[in-house]
Amino acid sequence: MDTVVSGIRSTGNLHLGNYFGALRNFLKMQTENNCFFFIADYHSLTTHPKPDDLHGNIKQVLAEYLACGIDPEIATVYIQSDVPEVTELYLLLNMNAYVGELQRTTSFKEKIRKQPENINAGLLTYPVLMAADIIIHKAHKVPVGKDQEQHLEMTRRFARRFNTMYGVDYFPEPDAYNFGKKLIKVPGLDGTGKMGKSEGNGVFLADTPQEIRKKVMRAVTDTGPQTPGEKPSEPVQNLFNIMKVVSDPATVKYFTEKHASCEIRYGDMKKQLAEDIIKVTDPIRERITEILSDKKYLAKVVSQGAEKARASASKTIREVREIIGYRSF
Ligand code: TRP
Repeated sequence: MDTVVSGIRSTGNLHLGNYFGALRNFLKMQTENNCFFFIADYHSLTTHPKPDDLHGNIKQVLAEYLACGIDPEIATVYIQSDVPEVTELYLLLNMNAYVGELQRTTSFKEKIRKQPENINAGLLTYPVLMAADIIIHKAHKVPVGKDQEQHLEMTRRFARRFNTMYGVDYFPEPDAYNFGKKLIKVPGLDGTGKMGKSEGNGVFLADTPQEIRKKVMRAVTDTGPQTPGEKPSEPVQNLFNIMKVVSDPATVKYFTEKHASCEIRYGDMKKQLAEDIIKVTDPIRERITEILSDKKYLAKVVSQGAEKARASASKTIREVREIIGYRSF
């Protein structure tokens, strides 16, 4: 069995993009692999969440994970900060990570541009912490979206570097993993780009049907096709792309043809799209609410996950310390 590791930062509710891009892959993997799925709450500290918000953020993402169908009896589901071994490996890996390569990371350069007032060292070493998350369980496969490709490449490099440095064949080099050929990219409702947590263009799994209808009806479109067979503009194509993910093929075909013949009424298309989104999200939303109200269940999942994750992580740390040269007195 291959070992799979993936995490999601606890920085906001999960949206349709997370669901179709990441979580559905997790679900497919959980039965055939030894899976570790965690909430990356240490990573979330780079944006300085308020102490009053931190716990709620973690709890929400955990409930959303579970509501989507991740089974804590099959996969190991845990909170990153419950596994302090990760931070030890992070420290050890930091000794072999070069400032130059970290500064050249795309995500770091983007952060410098976006939040010049808070360029903390945690942002610089973010890829090292992510590498520690992954190789602490000696993972083979990491289901992540395209935006994490470079981080994963760095993980491979850090794993290889450790092996070379100590002349061992200890850490496997993990591969990015995605089901199917195409990476699913769910666009936002604002006309351009992908759905994001903080872009204000997303449909969240926890949104009520009324909220979803309102958001979809407000989605950006255009003034309508002028000539038959015309290619849809980007905002309209985005709506079609979401439709391809949530609706059945006959619905997509119907509206595609209406667009091609210039008969499309975007209002009708949006109404249909909203209902098809609700079909996906509503059962999940109900489960989120249910799970959030079951404190005992959540506590059990968390402690069981922490125990399993720590068993795996502490074994690695023991071996790594040995390889590095620590000896008992
Ligand atoms: N960096 C990832 C993201 O922003 C989250 C993450 C942290 C992660 N550690 C990980 C993903 C380990 C996969 C494996 O989406």
